[in-house]
Amino acid sequence: MSASVLDKVAEPEFSPHLTQFIKDWKDKPGSLIMILHQLQQQFGYLPRAAILKLSREINLPLAKIYGVVTFYHYFKLTKPGRNNIQVCMGTACYLKGGEDLLQELENMLGIGVNQVTEDGEFSIESVRCVGCCGLAPVAVCGTVFGKLVPEKLPEILGKLKAGGEQP
Ligand code: FES
Repeated sequence: MSASVLDKVAEPEFSPHLTQFIKDWKDKPGSLIMILHQLQQQFGYLPRAAILKLSREINLPLAKIYGVVTFYHYFKLTKPGRNNIQVCMGTACYLKGGEDLLQELENMLGIGVNQVTEDGEFSIESVRCVGCCGLAPVAVCGTVFGKLVPEKLPEILGKLKAGGEQP
């Protein structure tokens, strides 16, 4: 993308906290990942326009920032759905059927991991251990769904779509 096209991208507003964080850390070596964490915390993902603004503010080439962002699975370049369902693929969950859950979820929503449904309602994320191994297999979306079986998914998706699920 040429600089002239990039210049036309609307510049997002950084929160005062983020602005201060960048100011405090931008000149310290190895701080890019910490800054990107803060950036993702503010937006829920890393919008291209925000990365562009960051690149200008910390005087680091876009390519270098994208190199880091694309290396780590933690960073998201696309906006998650209103309900971002994290399916645990840690060892305990995997052994107890995490992969079946993930596959069933993909089938039901018609999307893959790191994709968003057309209506923006759901996205799926595959994550490592979320610290509830005793409840394996586990999915997380606002709350933890433990000992989850594929048969429970339609009900959970329905409740999430209707505005929230509390077990
Ligand atoms: S492996 Fe899934 S919660 Fe620990």
